[in-house]
Amino acid sequence: MLSFDPYQQTDRENYKLLIGSVIPRPIAFVTSKSEQGIVNAAPFSYFNLVSSNPPMLSVSVQRQGGQKKDTARNILSGKEFVVHVVDEENVFEINETSASLPPDQSEIDVTKLTLVDSEEVGVPAVVQSKIRFECVLHQAVDLPGADLLIGRIVRIHVDEAIYKEGRINADLLKPVSRLAGTNYAKLGEVFSLKRPD
Ligand SMILES: Cc1cc2nc3c(=O)[nH]c(=O)nc-3n(C[C@H](O)[C@H](O)[C@H](O)COP(=O)(O)O)c2cc1C
Repeated sequence: MLSFDPYQQTDRENYKLLIGSVIPRPIAFVTSKSEQGIVNAAPFSYFNLVSSNPPMLSVSVQRQGGQKKDTARNILSGKEFVVHVVDEENVFEINETSASLPPDQSEIDVTKLTLVDSEEVGVPAVVQSKIRFECVLHQAVDLPGADLLIGRIVRIHVDEAIYKEGRINADLLKPVSRLAGTNYAKLGEVFSLKRPD
């Protein structure tokens, strides 16, 4: 086994080890709104569920050169955001939104994605996603190099084509995850294991 002291490595070396190890990572495509009303959109793979009662999720937005990214700034000020599930059909357009644009420019304008009003929050959502969660900021944790944003889910939208009797059909959802570098992954072979009693 190789053994690494993360405090003797560069940030880049640690980053490469971490994002290559924790795979596959689900991707949150997040819309948020600036105080000036500009809709911001970007993907984040430091993302997961953190609670189901009440339903909550987390997104961690890294700082860039010590500065908060637009998504973090918007959510900290507006306290609302929408998380969309990334799938094989929308991943190309969503990848395009990860360009670093100035805060007064919307990433949506550089894609074919279209906005729709949300029901419970003032932040619009994107139509091209089969599942989306409207969220209200529950807590923000100011980490040394990131803003960990914990959102309470206040509305869940699901495309009826992938929904049956309370369950999501994963084969129809076709989720896409993030690996290291520029690599993404589709859902692989699915198998089940009985839990021991
Ligand atoms: C698939 C994917 C996953 C990403 N995951 C993250 C992440 O977890 N945290 C992060 O800070 N940036 C992540 N990024 C980079 C951001 O999307 C990128 O910095 C974006 O420009 C931030 O947008 P904003 O400045 O408008 O908030 C990811 C990019 C891609 C393409």
